[in-house]
Amino acid sequence: MTTTAPRTTTQAFFDPATGTVSYVIRDHATRRAAVIDPVLDYDFRSGHTGTASADRLLAYVRAQSLQVDWILETHAHADHLSGARHVQSQAGGRIAIGEHIRTVQATFRSLYNLERDFLPDGSQFDHLFEDGESFRIGDTEATALLVPGHTPADMAYLVDGAVFVGDTLFMPDYGTARADFPGGDANLLYRSIRRILSFAPETTLWMCHDYKAPGRDSFAWRTTVGEERAKNVQAHDGVSEAEFVKVRRARDRQLAMPVLILPSVQVNIRAGAMPPPAADGNIYLKLPVNRL
Ligand SMILES: [Fe+2]
Repeated sequence: MTTTAPRTTTQAFFDPATGTVSYVIRDHATRRAAVIDPVLDYDFRSGHTGTASADRLLAYVRAQSLQVDWILETHAHADHLSGARHVQSQAGGRIAIGEHIRTVQATFRSLYNLERDFLPDGSQFDHLFEDGESFRIGDTEATALLVPGHTPADMAYLVDGAVFVGDTLFMPDYGTARADFPGGDANLLYRSIRRILSFAPETTLWMCHDYKAPGRDSFAWRTTVGEERAKNVQAHDGVSEAEFVKVRRARDRQLAMPVLILPSVQVNIRAGAMPPPAADGNIYLKLPVNRL
């Protein structure tokens, strides 16, 4: 799906294995670009990684002769490994995430008993965004918005009048992100959602995930503030914070952990890098037992 706004074009890339939508935003005037939430393929059964998903996105970057300035993560994903390092190795760009990634790093450093050299200071990323921080993609102004709840560090990115919402809202017929991972907070998620829904009703919202919904046969990842306010099954206008939290918590109690949460988070808090090799020169991911 390609959408052209006044200054930019947004190209979406959907990964059916994880239900993740990655984006390339291209600034018309300068051919500068930002990549959002690229995926590194990972086969849980074999432990093999692959770059087919990220390479589709990179093929578009090359075909359009784009210069990648930014690789933006909305948060430390729990359902897929980040392809940020692969994209950076092929196309350059600075890997950025919200500054509260430090909190997430501290939580998971302990959970995984990571090596002493792993510091929960965000230094694994090239840039940490504060809430409300402005940045540029070529000549286009963008703003990083802190939208915690799903995790303490979730960011949304406002670019050229559209919001890339990360894991806050899903499509109106599916609802919202879960809030039960370590550091998740359904009350905060509600307030973050209301912040996004305070933009003008015609504002385009780009989702980070889609899993279809009962009665819908095709994947979708684009909607508007107005549609979400009118129709979001968990967070439409009129749903109070207390009601939302009750429904969200009840739903979260029924959800299994994502298949890739344990391999994903230890890579994603390193900005998509693998852990250092073991003494034999090979790389190992950890599966903590009875910790999550
Ligand atoms: Fe997520």
